[in-house]
Amino acid sequence: MTSRYRAKPITEFNIFEAESEVIALNQEIDAHDEMYYRHDAPKIDDFNYDSLRQRLEALVRQFPGLKKLSPVLGQVGATPSPGFSKVIHSHPMLSLANAFNDTDVTDFLGRVKKFLALDAEQNIEVVAEPKIDGVSASLIYRNGLFVKGATRGDGAVGEDITDNLRTINDIPSRLKKGFPTTLEIRGEIYMTKVAFTELNAAQTISNSKVFANPRNAAAGSLRQLDPTVTATRNLNFFAYTWGEISELRAVTQIQFFGMLSNWGFKINPLTKLCSSAEDLLRHYHEIEEQRPGLSYDIDGVVYKVNRLDLQKRLGTISRAPRWAIAHKFPAERTETILEAIDIQIGRTGVLTPVARLRPINVGGVVVSNASLHNEDEINRKDIRIGDTVVIQRAGDVIPQVVEVVLQKRSQLSKPYTFPIKCPSCGNETKRLEGEVARRCVAGLTCRDQVIESLKHFVSRNAFDIEGLGEKQIYLLWGDSFISSPGDIFRLKRHRVALEKKNGLGKRSVENILNAIEKSRTIKLERLIYGLGIPQVGQATARLIAINYQTLTSLRAVLEKARDKKSLEYAELLNIDQVGESVAHDLIDFFGDEINQRILSDLESELKILDGELINVERTALTGKTIVFTGTLEKMGRGEAKSLAESLGAKVVGSVSSKTDFVVVGGEAGSKATKAEKLGITILTEDEWLKLIA
Ligand code: IVH
Repeated sequence: MTSRYRAKPITEFNIFEAESEVIALNQEIDAHDEMYYRHDAPKIDDFNYDSLRQRLEALVRQFPGLKKLSPVLGQVGATPSPGFSKVIHSHPMLSLANAFNDTDVTDFLGRVKKFLALDAEQNIEVVAEPKIDGVSASLIYRNGLFVKGATRGDGAVGEDITDNLRTINDIPSRLKKGFPTTLEIRGEIYMTKVAFTELNAAQTISNSKVFANPRNAAAGSLRQLDPTVTATRNLNFFAYTWGEISELRAVTQIQFFGMLSNWGFKINPLTKLCSSAEDLLRHYHEIEEQRPGLSYDIDGVVYKVNRLDLQKRLGTISRAPRWAIAHKFPAERTETILEAIDIQIGRTGVLTPVARLRPINVGGVVVSNASLHNEDEINRKDIRIGDTVVIQRAGDVIPQVVEVVLQKRSQLSKPYTFPIKCPSCGNETKRLEGEVARRCVAGLTCRDQVIESLKHFVSRNAFDIEGLGEKQIYLLWGDSFISSPGDIFRLKRHRVALEKKNGLGKRSVENILNAIEKSRTIKLERLIYGLGIPQVGQATARLIAINYQTLTSLRAVLEKARDKKSLEYAELLNIDQVGESVAHDLIDFFGDEINQRILSDLESELKILDGELINVERTALTGKTIVFTGTLEKMGRGEAKSLAESLGAKVVGSVSSKTDFVVVGGEAGSKATKAEKLGITILTEDEWLKLIA
């Protein structure tokens, strides 16, 4: 289906015609993408496909407000293919926290030592190895035979790419002697720089898609539905850790690397055991120097505490281990022209300026957008449309505009004036005292705010409603089928009308409604995250769900916590990652009348599963409230707290009649005295260790 405006030159469009053409182009491109990426069966040649994209890009350039109707412009390369079956990782595949400078590295070592109650002067062994810029994979071996391989996916669930992985020479199909019966090896699939150049040359000759960098080429090659295609791509693998393992004989990371090598895996030759911050930093700079000459891309150096028992004690926080960190190489910088400044409205109404740049290659990636943060940032740097700007890009972080090259500024340039009316709904915007953000005050009557909140609500880590993307939400919102989250669960009442809607179709309505029904049963943590409360990400949402168990009790607690002197407020602050500012946002959100209506509506539509109980096994600490005071010698306060919590206890900061135990370390003060007065059980550090043994 082509639109009725296809023959018309875009310079002659009015906004209404342009909107209709943009929607039509999006649908066509989306359909072609689906055929190309998911079915490996393109319906048109690349030339015609590119013309569609170019027409859409030109239209959006002429009518920037239509950018929001053009989700296909934001899609680069293949989306995860439903052609692969899902694999649930037995242990989550973690990511790494980042260090950007020497201080971040010494801070990391300091945190590790503090957690373990080690002397700050004491050295601790750490392994340093290159951070490979590739795609991580998990390989499962049973009795030494490679049986299944998967992508990382979202860390919890990946895609089964076994057949593709079998084509990679570095992945042994059979392990050499001395392996555990069940062994899951994790590592990085990568493409060498030479293989990447050769692949792109071949792709150009055959008029096929060229890749922006070796990492994208590796990802695209792994995502092929036909393993014979993957087999033609030159992929490699470095192993670096394990997931599931029936028997772990190593006591250090370095020993484990030795085992990997004995079993037949490649380990990175630049891996080194270091024993001090100076050692680590020296090795970092050595690797940095070698970087241009390496045959593969790296984007930093990973540091891992060497002793595995210490790794175990340190554990994880927010999906990253406490015992490792990625020390990234400095960002790459380059100059380009700032062609326009667009204002995006987020789900909380914040107006975010985005720099539209003349596309430029920065460290192997073509960059055309960069963050401008906020109004003050633009004023401070005096950024103007038409300026030559220095941009920098570091890893997956959104590129930043560092500064303006003033010598290259045109004399005709004018300072940029930040809009004071919301570009989406035309309503007033406001800056609250002390805030850098300017917000649209229209709340849920502002189109972009509603659409952004709904997009977040249905996103993968929240309700995960497949098929209900930006395009569909926009269509359904436009016709008043959905204006608040609860409406999504009543869409089935409009099945017939939906099927008739231009841009949906019977099959996609069926798929969307099925996905909605599936998401009707939802974990409390996903619901909390999906609400889009400012500052409440997945990790915080999970902790809140664990602490309050049900939406009813969470609502009740937050109502009482409005009083800052209440016990409920003190307990809220006790949750890891909830400081005063997050507490304020939570209380504010739950106190808002419209939000309360949305929540009650959702409660009547959903089956909400209670927050996870961290430890179902009953221990001496289950349900107990503990206060730690004074200096503990055998473990840091952080470790004591996370241990107590993992055994089902709640750790609070102040002693009250509700406290069950007070653990007293050296130089304890008033808390110990208060506990004594209240007749609360006081434990010495040794008694505490016995209790948790
Ligand atoms: S260790 C528990 N080591 O970096 C630690 N990761 O930013 C798990 N990566 O998801 C990762 N080189 O895909 C580790 N030598 C290396 C790595 C490495 C690259 C990737 C990995 C991870 C990501 C985190």
